[in-house]
Amino acid sequence: MSKRQFCTHSADETVALGRLISNFLEAGQMVILRGDLGAGKTTLVKGIAEGFHAALQEDVTSPTFTLVHEYRGPEVTLFHIDLYRIDTERELATLGIDDLRSEPDSILLVEWGEKFESIVEESGTEIALERTGETERVIILRDNQ
Ligand SMILES: Nc1ncnc2c1ncn2[C@@H]1O[C@H](COP(=O)(O)OP(=O)(O)OP(=O)(O)O)[C@@H](O)[C@H]1O
Ligand SMILES: [Mg+2]
Repeated sequence: MSKRQFCTHSADETVALGRLISNFLEAGQMVILRGDLGAGKTTLVKGIAEGFHAALQEDVTSPTFTLVHEYRGPEVTLFHIDLYRIDTERELATLGIDDLRSEPDSILLVEWGEKFESIVEESGTEIALERTGETERVIILRDNQ
């Protein structure tokens, strides 16, 4: 179990932190991004995608309606998932998360993953974002592996 804590003061700093955090992530992981609406989860994913050379930050958008976005990099494929609009385990099952996990070299980044026990049990890593000011965020990376 490891825990790293960071504080950012702008969206750009959170993107930069995402690039840094990409160094702590590896293929096979499922990461829960925990935090309220507007905490900065999608902003952090922009940086993680850049860190893996999987997408440019401006091309990473919220998968609120589409539910799953895929960003393919040279070493890993990122699946950016938003479960905000998913309410039941049954709906969750239609997303085929197990299939995405079993794709070679995939990393799953799941916003609102903490809503589902099945996701919490399977995920070894959590990034919690807390809004501590207008543009200040405390961001904690926890690894249980
Ligand atoms: N330090 C910061 N880090 C991240 N975002 C910040 C920061 N300061 C201000 N912001 C702003 O907060 C908002 C964060 O939005 P973002 O879509 O990343 O949140 P989210 O956690 O994904 O929300 P949702 O649950 O609605 O998907 C953006 O408008 C961003 O510009
Ligand atoms: Mg989001």
